Amino acid sequence: MNKSVLALATAVALSLCTLSAYADPIKLKFSHVVAENTPKGQMATKFKALVSERLKDKVVVEIYPNGQLFGDNKVLEALLLGDVHLASPSLSKFKKYTKKLQIFDLPFLFNDMAAAEKFQQSKAGQSLLKTVEKKGLIGLGYMHNGMKQLSASKALHVPADAEGLKFRIMSSDVLSAQFEAVGGTPLKKPYSEVFTLLQTKAIDGQENTWSNIHSKKFYEVQNYITSSDHGLLDYMVVTSAEFWNGLPDDVRTELKKALDEAIAHGNKVAAEKSKSDKQAIIDSKRTTVIELSKEERQQWVDKMKPVWKKFEGIVGKDMLDAAIASNK
Ligand code: SIN
Repeated sequence: MNKSVLALATAVALSLCTLSAYADPIKLKFSHVVAENTPKGQMATKFKALVSERLKDKVVVEIYPNGQLFGDNKVLEALLLGDVHLASPSLSKFKKYTKKLQIFDLPFLFNDMAAAEKFQQSKAGQSLLKTVEKKGLIGLGYMHNGMKQLSASKALHVPADAEGLKFRIMSSDVLSAQFEAVGGTPLKKPYSEVFTLLQTKAIDGQENTWSNIHSKKFYEVQNYITSSDHGLLDYMVVTSAEFWNGLPDDVRTELKKALDEAIAHGNKVAAEKSKSDKQAIIDSKRTTVIELSKEERQQWVDKMKPVWKKFEGIVGKDMLDAAIASNK
C-alpha cells in the first residue's frame, strides 16, 4: 500500500469511528427501589417515554425498579462510579452526603403536602438541593411520595402503645430519635427487607406512605395501621456531576425538561395514590386502619416534636424557621 492510499484508508477509518461514536445513543440507567405502580415508578416510566419521544436517537433510558440493580444504601455510590446515572432516593437516605436534608425527617414539621411543596420550591428549599454538590452529586429536583403512617402488629393509638416495639426505619438519625422519643427501638434496614422482617416478626412495625404500604403489601403482614401523617417521605432526583456536565448542552436541556414534566406527573400520581391506596388497604380488610382523635394525635406531637431541638444546630435555625413558615 503506497503512502497516499494508507493516508486515505486511515482518514476513512477515523471518520467512521467518529460517526459511530455520535451514532451510539447515550445509555441512561435509572435505578430505584420501589414498585413500578408507585409515584416514583410512574415518574420514571413517564421520563423514559418523554425521552424516547424527544431524544429518540440520542438517549436511551433503562429503568431498574424494585432495587434490582442497587438498594438505596448503595445507589449514590453507584452514581459516583458511573454504574447508574439517575436515582431518586428518599430524602432520609442522604446522611453520608449531606446532613442538611435531615430537616425533612423532623416529625410533624409539615402540616400537609402543600406546605412541603411550598418549602421545597422556596429559595431556602432550593438551596438544599445544592448541598450534595460538594460530594460530586447534582440534585435535579424534589419529588413527592407523601405523608408517612405508622404500622404495627398491635394497635397504636397513643405513644405509650409503641413502647418496647421494634420499628424499621430508613437510615436517618432523626427517625431514630423520633422512635426513641416514644420508647421504641429503631432499626435501620433496607427497604427490600421490610416485608420479610415484618412477616417473620423480627420487627414489630414500620413507618411509610400509603402507596409504599400498599405496593409492597406491608398491610398484609401488619395488623394495624395508624393514620398519623406524622412525617414526610419525599425524594431528591439526583445524578452525578461527571455524567450530567459531560452531556451535550442540547441533550442536558431536553433531559431536564423531560424530568421536570415527569416529576410533575409523579407528584399528581402521589396525590391520587395517597387517597386511593389508603382506601384499597381499608377495602382489603387485611388490616385495621386507625383514625386518631385530635387528643390522641396531640400526644404523638408532644412526644415526637422535642426531637427538633436536637437537630436544630445541624439543619440550621433559619432553615427550620423557613420550613415552619411554609405551613402558613
Ligand atoms: C422509597 O419510597 O423509595 C423507599 C422508602 C423506604 O425505604 O421506606
